[in-house]
Amino acid sequence: AASDPGLVERARKAKEALGDRLFVLGHHYQRDEVIQFADVTGDSFKLAQQAAARPGAEYIVFCGVHFMAESADILTGDAQQVILPDLAAGCSMADMATFDQVEEAWEILEDAGVADTVVPVTYMNSSADIKAFCGRHGGTVCTSSNAKRALEWAFEQGEKVLFLPDQHLGRNTAVLEMGLSLEDCLVYNPHRPPSAEELRRAKIILWKGHCSVHGRFTADSVDDVRRRIPGVNVLVHPECKHEVVLKADHVGSTEYIIKKLAEAPAGSKWAVGTELNLVKRLGQMFPDKSVSFLDKTVCYCSTMNRIDLPHLVWALESLVLGEVVNQITVDADTTHWAKVALDRMLALP
Ligand code: 13P
Ligand code: SF4
Repeated sequence: AASDPGLVERARKAKEALGDRLFVLGHHYQRDEVIQFADVTGDSFKLAQQAAARPGAEYIVFCGVHFMAESADILTGDAQQVILPDLAAGCSMADMATFDQVEEAWEILEDAGVADTVVPVTYMNSSADIKAFCGRHGGTVCTSSNAKRALEWAFEQGEKVLFLPDQHLGRNTAVLEMGLSLEDCLVYNPHRPPSAEELRRAKIILWKGHCSVHGRFTADSVDDVRRRIPGVNVLVHPECKHEVVLKADHVGSTEYIIKKLAEAPAGSKWAVGTELNLVKRLGQMFPDKSVSFLDKTVCYCSTMNRIDLPHLVWALESLVLGEVVNQITVDADTTHWAKVALDRMLALP
């Protein structure tokens, strides 16, 4: 639907009034009505870097989800304030690994006598305290674009990896990119932890988390789209289940997906398995190519969609009036250790 012209005008005016004091970041999964006001768009890692690269901007308005705004706060200086236009914009995957559960898991690894050999690696899609946990225990962070390098690094530091919180990104990277077998992977269910023996045998311990949006794609979705669209190229995000990724032609982060479509020849046909706002936008960006959604059902990320134009206008107009609403702050100790983990990622070859 077209954006409300009155709200568009109010957002434009507020942005103009704030000038260089404001920097608006937009994740690729955001609605069009919001993305039109982003000074930069990107995947979660690029956006965090972009926030840090703008020390002059007093206000970073983050159009994305909570863990991304936290990462931006960790990577920016004290003089910058990070604002999330709707505090209810969380990430169900990040919520699947709580700090207490991960601490308990570590104790279980200690009791099994393996904790000394385990390096924790967390996906960017996790809360700041989980990143800090990885920092304290010699581990790192990864994104969907550098997961292989992060795992290679981790296996140089220790014998086993605890991968948080997305079992699919962990399994897809370990098995399809690093030559580990499915038997090397053990799923860690915090409600029913594995035995000490299973933990000793595993090479990679995958936290039982997943993305509910990408989890909707199935192997049947791929078979079905190939039947419906002969010659189609199937391109999916690595948060999809292993059997979906196995059947796809290409797999990569949101930035990779956009790059792949940009480079594709005119007339080529693509079925894309990721969030629907992005897939629809790809169709508009590349009208000379045929871009379809991998599944027949509608698949938005409901929490990404919570950031809408009314919330953005409210956040911006509040700033014009001198009021900072919905600021995201991470405490000093968590910031320190999360930054240790993030810096290790930045130093990856
Ligand atoms: P990217 O880092 O690939 O943008 O993915 C973020 C995300 O939330 C995917 O579901
Ligand atoms: Fe989280 Fe999935 Fe939404 Fe990404 S798409 S923010 S992983 S729930």
